Amino acid sequence: MTDDAGPPAASLSGSLARTSSSGPTAAAPRSTDAQAIQAASAPGSATVTTAVTTKRPRVKPRIVLDGTPDEILARNNRAASPAFVDKLLARAGTHWNKFYTNHANATPFFKDRHWTDREWPQLAQLAEVSEAQSADDNAAEGVQAERRRLAKGKGKAVLEVGCGTGAFIYPLLERYPQARYVAFDFAKKAVELTKNHPLHDPSKCHIFQHDLTLPLSALSEKLAAAPSEFGEPVREGGFDVVSCIFVLSALSPKQHMEALQTLISLLAPGGWLLFRDYAWHDAAQLRFHSLPSASYATEPSLLSPRTSSDVSEAPSAAKETADPPSVDPDLPFYRRGDNTLTYFFSSDEIARHVSDATAALNNSKGEGEVRVELEGAVEIVEREMENRKEGWGCTRRFVHGSWRRTR
Ligand SMILES: C[S@@+](CC[C@H](N)C(=O)[O-])C[C@H]1O[C@@H](n2cnc3c(N)ncnc32)[C@H](O)[C@@H]1O
Repeated sequence: MTDDAGPPAASLSGSLARTSSSGPTAAAPRSTDAQAIQAASAPGSATVTTAVTTKRPRVKPRIVLDGTPDEILARNNRAASPAFVDKLLARAGTHWNKFYTNHANATPFFKDRHWTDREWPQLAQLAEVSEAQSADDNAAEGVQAERRRLAKGKGKAVLEVGCGTGAFIYPLLERYPQARYVAFDFAKKAVELTKNHPLHDPSKCHIFQHDLTLPLSALSEKLAAAPSEFGEPVREGGFDVVSCIFVLSALSPKQHMEALQTLISLLAPGGWLLFRDYAWHDAAQLRFHSLPSASYATEPSLLSPRTSSDVSEAPSAAKETADPPSVDPDLPFYRRGDNTLTYFFSSDEIARHVSDATAALNNSKGEGEVRVELEGAVEIVEREMENRKEGWGCTRRFVHGSWRRTR
């Protein structure tokens, strides 16, 4: 797969033969690795029966994706124990850091994304400087008006959250050098790789380590601490573009709405929130229910039980803890073989989260503060992927959305 086809080759790149796992990466799939999901049928399609056998001589796991996506998802639904899920969530940063450390030298493992302005035509606005003040701005008072005055005449500001290696910002920086780019990731190694990118320019880029699930105040402090070369920091409410690409799926489902609230509060009036992530029935999700490990692993890939009786630990053990389990039942939340986490969304779910997040943000505002309004759309996009040489193909499915802050 090339990046132009869409997202990181998430589950495509883990080596089934070696680990029966998938990797969360922006890389093209490796030969035998990619076979793992080659047999995934198109969602909603008729029954497909395909067997995949690795070419490695000694280990020959066999995956059979047999049936419709719904039938496949109905299999192997035993979930990991709540205690194990809690441990995974607590160590999420460590696992991502390991992921980047392990793949840092395996170039060209990480590839820049050159497809983004094809998928989001709104990015063409990065060619402009920030709009001149409107009559409204002149009339506005307080901190927000001051920020907009400071931004006047400067390049547009982009924020990439969970930036990985900076695959989103650098192709944009090349095309729109007049814009300014802020990016963060909570994996230290990812931040290091982003800063070491050949196109990194400290006068245009402010890159730092940060956990998106922390309160907004923690992020505000880091935004304000931009290095002097970068000039005037871009702050909350000042971004013309905020992108969240294959990042929300890495968070616990309980954090999805609040993370979106943070992203919305960063948008400038007129700014765009751009979203892309894995969708329900994506080939990578089907694969989680078809791997040999799905049925025999002590702690399976599925983290969220479909019914409480499917939990591998006795339900009474979960009841003994004071806190409810970290993950609600019936959610498509999984761990990859390297213990990074991934979720598969529906478009309705994302639309609802964005709407709830906007409402929550407005409820948190004091009297007289400007209410935020968003307009946008979200859809499912499908991308057929194939590797003719190796004779495999699959359907990747993504939730793709964009919302404009209209007020
Ligand atoms: C699947 S990768 C996508 C990377 C990049 N956005 C891309 O599309 O290539 C998910 C990224 O989210 C980062 N991440 C996961 N949880 C995060 C959090 N709570 N705060 C910030 N970054 C996070 C991971 O370190 C990883 O770099």
